[in-house]
This record gives sequence, structure tokens and C-alpha cells, in this order.
Amino acid sequence: MRCCEITMNVTVIGGAGYVGLTTSACLAYKGNTVYCVDIDQSRIKRINEGSSPIHEGGLEEIIEAVVKEGRLFATQDAGNSISASSAVFICAGTPSKKDGSIDLRQIIIATRNVGRSLAKKDEYCVVVVKSTVVPGTTRSRIIPLLEKMSKKKAGVDFGVCMNPEFLREGSAVKDLLFPRDQGIVIGQFDEKSGDSLLELYRGSEAEILRTTLDSAEMVKYARNAYLSKDISFANEMANICQQLDVDYLDVKKGLEMDSRIGRFLNAGIGFGGSCFPKDIRALVSKAKEAGIEPAILEATLRVNENQPSVLMNIVKRALGNLKEKNFAVLGLAFKPGTSDMRESRSIPIIERLLAQGAHVYAFDPEAAAEAKKFFGRRINYTSTAEEALRKADACIIVTEWQMFSDPKLYDYLKGRFIFDGRRSLDPRKLSHRFIYHGIGFPEGTKS
Ligand code: UDX
Repeated sequence: MRCCEITMNVTVIGGAGYVGLTTSACLAYKGNTVYCVDIDQSRIKRINEGSSPIHEGGLEEIIEAVVKEGRLFATQDAGNSISASSAVFICAGTPSKKDGSIDLRQIIIATRNVGRSLAKKDEYCVVVVKSTVVPGTTRSRIIPLLEKMSKKKAGVDFGVCMNPEFLREGSAVKDLLFPRDQGIVIGQFDEKSGDSLLELYRGSEAEILRTTLDSAEMVKYARNAYLSKDISFANEMANICQQLDVDYLDVKKGLEMDSRIGRFLNAGIGFGGSCFPKDIRALVSKAKEAGIEPAILEATLRVNENQPSVLMNIVKRALGNLKEKNFAVLGLAFKPGTSDMRESRSIPIIERLLAQGAHVYAFDPEAAAEAKKFFGRRINYTSTAEEALRKADACIIVTEWQMFSDPKLYDYLKGRFIFDGRRSLDPRKLSHRFIYHGIGFPEGTKS
């Protein structure tokens, strides 16, 4: 047992997905016995073999350890898992519908299954919604469905909490094991529900907020909205700086000197990933449904959508016609430290290059296999950055992997043009042979 005094049997529904698996592995690591329930047979097999079906720093090692110690079991059997558990986490995905609103289908299926299993269970257990759901969902959709399927009463026969996750890809294990930076938010149906969930966090040094179900749901959206608003603000400032021949990086340093100002101020080609874009769209849709015009949220999305065009306009101003030109694209993942391509800014950048007749030689240390699902054989995947650069008239930095900030790497570039979509390279350290352009970098300034 590593940290908790009291340990529990826990079921995680959607346990082989990104949030579910990280939650399962970390709860098991803290000494609990965890049943990780999922429908994906191949993922279940891998987990039970002690290996991780997703790429996330530290997760593989934890899974290997807890499977060996007999505290993590992956299974398709929700019924027996729930009957043996005193807490059930729902970690189903909540993607966007075409109109941007939240798609609750996976949550509804998971809730029905949990409800059916609760019907056969005599002991009290707490159902914890971890999935990101718009305010009101747990209260008005999940609880009524649990009660209908189980023929039992929330607050009497079972408890309900909403406990949002704040996992950042690449540091999700640390975020879960040591949530000190981000705190723990427990939305509770009643006091007993909250007390039951609190047992799982016993021993944690993190600040804990106990609140209503709806407030907990809203905290998750408000945080993601706040952070993405800062990114779009940074991008707008960088775009203005560029036109005024000011270097945004100097301005950023000045902003960060003020402790009241945030930390998500890296300008570039915008935010992607599995959370920010879809969560902001879902909140816009929910706000409109409630009769609010969410001006800041809509502007955040608009600025973000435009950033790839800002970079492509710089490329076109520098190179003119892109037909038959060869581009090295460095980075495909939505951010460094992950193989995740969801809503990656590499997608609009590469699509625009291809639409204009350019050839793409792309390199990413982790995401090439995922990227093939998006681009297939329309682009060339190289096994090193050097190989892509050797073929290229120009290069575009799309993801700020550490290795791309090494100025010596660019000695391999055949052409002269470097377009930095993340401002991750210091142009002063480049050879004078190159012409450097970056978002928020005074236009056309030579290195
Ligand atoms: C985010 C939140 O940080 C996390 O708390 C939440 O629960 C899930 O969503 P994640 O999507 O893993 O985490 O990545 P994050 O590091 O927040 O970056 C998101 C996107 O914003 C990336 O595309 C990143 O490149 C971009 N970004 C981030 C910027 O463009 N500028 C910044 O200053 C920071």
C-alpha cells in the first residue's frame, strides 16, 4: 500500500480510455483494488499483460507494477466488478456533435449499465462522474437514469459525485498522483456521497473543494475556457506585435513579470487536443441554449481557427507559389510528449500545404502512426528530422518537441526558410544562411 490508509474496491467504467486508464492505474497504485471495465477486448488483453495501450509518460511502469501485484484487473464484466466495489467511476468519452454541442451517447450507455448493476447490489456504493459533462447533466440526466435502471434512490441506496479530471496529456500520472497544483473538486449529491469519495483522496495534500454537482461540472469548463482564452489572447497580441514590428516574446516576458497574469501565453498556431476545442464548443452551445451570447468563448475559438492561416500567410508572403515546393513539417502531435493527433494544428497546416500543390516530408518522434490515420499516403513520413530537412526547400515547426529547438538541427535543411509555428527556436542562434519567420516575430527579420 503506497499512500492511502483506507483502501477500496473500485470499478472504472470506460477504464481502457485515456482518462479511465490513468485513473484506474493511479487508484491501484495508491493501494486500491481496481476493476477497469471496457468493451475493447484488445486493450483489456494488453492491460492484463501489464502493458499500456496508450502512450503516456509513467503509465506503462505503473500498470506493470499494479497488475503484477494483483490490484488492477481489466475486464468486460461490469456487473461482477460493480457488485464487488464501493465506488464506481464513469469515464466515458463526451465528444462533440456536428453542431458543437456535447454528445452524451457513451455516458448514457455507461450509466444504464451501472444502473442495471446497482439493481442487483445490496450495499451502498458511490457513483462518480469523471467525464466532462455540461452543467446539469449529472443531476438531470445521469441520476434519473441510474434511479430508473436500478429502481433505487440516490442518497439512500447509492451516492453520486461529480469529480472532474484535470489531466494534462504528458503529465497525467503526476497530475493524478500529486494533484497539488490543481486541487480536487468534489461535487456531491449529498454529504454522505462526498464523504465516501473523500475516502479515496485521504492522505492527499491537495486543496479540496466540496460543492454541488452542477458547480463541479462548471469548474471544469470554466478552467478550460479560461486557459484557452489566454492562449487566444496571446495569439492576438502576437499577431498585432508582428504587424507593428514588435517581438511578442519580449512582450510575453513583460506579461509574465506581473504575478496577476496567467501562464498559458505561448503564441503560435493555436490550441488542439482532446479537451480545449471540444469543451469550449460544448460550453458555447450550452450557453446559447440558456440564452447567453458567449462573446469571449466565441472569439477564443475564432482566433484559434485563424492561427494556421496566420502562419500560412507568412509562408506565402515569403515563398509565393507553393506548387511543387518541398516542406519539412516538424511535429504532428497536438503538443509535445504525446502521440495524440486529436484536433492537432498539424492537420490544417498540412491540408493547406497539400491543397496548394506542395510536397510534405513530416517527422514526429511519437505521432507518425496516428498521423497516418489522417493523411494516409498523401504525405511522406520520415524516421528522423534530418531526413525531412535534407529534402526540404523550407521547414515548418508545428509541435515544440525539445529536439526542434536545437539550432544545429537546421544545418540539414536544404533550403533557407524556417517557419516557426511555436516560437520554439531562437533565431539568433541560427546560421546567417537561414531566413527565420515566426508568429509574433517582426515580419521578414533575418536571423
Ligand atoms: C488540457 C488542460 O490543461 C487540462 O487541465 C484539461 O483537463 C485537459 O485539457 P491538454 O489538452 O493535455 O490539457 O494540454 P495543454 O497542455 O493544456 O495544451 C492544450 C493545447 O494548447 C496544446 O495544443 C498546446 O500546444 C496549446 N497551448 C498551450 C498553447 O498554444 N499555448 C500555451 O501557452 C499553452
